[in-house]
Amino acid sequence: MPSKKIAVLFSGSGSNLEAILSKIHKKVFNGIKIEVVLCICNKPDAFGIQRAEKYGLKTTIIQNKNFSTREEFDNELVKEISKYDIDLVVLAGFMRILTPVFTDHIRAINLHPSLLPLFKGSDAIKQSYESDMKVGGVSVHWVSDELDGGKLIMQRAFEREDDMSFEKWERKIHEIEHEILPLSIVKILS
Ligand code: GRF
Repeated sequence: MPSKKIAVLFSGSGSNLEAILSKIHKKVFNGIKIEVVLCICNKPDAFGIQRAEKYGLKTTIIQNKNFSTREEFDNELVKEISKYDIDLVVLAGFMRILTPVFTDHIRAINLHPSLLPLFKGSDAIKQSYESDMKVGGVSVHWVSDELDGGKLIMQRAFEREDDMSFEKWERKIHEIEHEILPLSIVKILS
């Protein structure tokens, strides 16, 4: 059976990594088996490392603080990914700005917790909540050399409820993330 191999890069809790592992890892879609064969994290104490271990996956730790430039760190990422026959790299809460050393050589998608092109950058959930927008949402896009600027793959929006708390807004965003990231991967690979 043909299989497609993905690498997942994360930096923190790893709830999106877990969504991928629970929903599509080692599962078959349209005759294609999808498998996570590599997890990379830049934070040695990230909870996502334990989530990966539940699925028998060891995480490769590559700490950006051990490199003097962004380019050297990115080169290390590319070197590690290149050891595997990867079909798609997934940035699932990987909190690093990537340089062309990475974006020019790696076919990757990224998850962003807003309706791009609105609210790019690292504070999207708070900025979207504090905006006057009547909808919030999530985007999955191709990684390009422009931060949060690559071609869109999938988006899903939700309506702001009256007096909606930030916590409820954030919870809604994560719920949608856990749906559309695995869906996007299946759409691309199968
Ligand atoms: C997600 O909200 C993602 O959109 C953002 O970082 C968060 C990662 O969450 N880039 P987790 O580590 O997958 O739980």
